[in-house]
Amino acid sequence: MDKDLAYVLVGEEQIYQRVEELGKLITRDYEGKEPLFVGILKGSFIFMADLVRAIELHSQMDFMAVSSYGNKSVTTGAVKIQKDLSEDIEGQDVIIVEDILDSGVTLSYLTKYLCNRNPASIRIVTLLDKPSRRIADVTADYVGFEVPDAFVVGYGLDYAQKYRSLPYIGVLKPEIYTD
Ligand code: IMP
Ligand code: MG
Repeated sequence: MDKDLAYVLVGEEQIYQRVEELGKLITRDYEGKEPLFVGILKGSFIFMADLVRAIELHSQMDFMAVSSYGNKSVTTGAVKIQKDLSEDIEGQDVIIVEDILDSGVTLSYLTKYLCNRNPASIRIVTLLDKPSRRIADVTADYVGFEVPDAFVVGYGLDYAQKYRSLPYIGVLKPEIYTD
């Protein structure tokens, strides 16, 4: 285990099993459709790579990069789009792929932003959900794991751009971050 972690919260095997389950659910729910997966960079890249391989459907992929403006505890906090989609989404069945749903500010903004482009449908799949921290009214349609209010890293998630490549999800030792 990485020396900066207090403990492993979700192990590799547990992640693998759950991603397979999510893949089966999405395959069933989108039968006969060709969904467009929209990965939110950078955090979702590992999850998305595993998830789409667990789904037995033709699909399309696109990515967005966003960053929160200023203080995250401000409910009205807008989100800055750093990289927008490459293609039009009108009439498409969009599935937003996120690493973690925390305050919900990012996904509540993004969902409205993408809704304005008239997709056929929009759903959210998130690997992790921290419901105790929610301030914006948003729920995910598919959740990998509900997690407690602790700062987690690994499997795509970072702290200061580090730890993304850990193959499991761990809780960082509090002395590593100053929040
Ligand atoms: P929200 O707008 O507060 O829901 O922010 C979600 C984003 O914050 C995620 O996409 C992550 O990039 C980041 N984030 C929130 N909690 C954590 C965490 O525990 N570890 C790593 N990143 C996190
Ligand atoms: Mg993110």
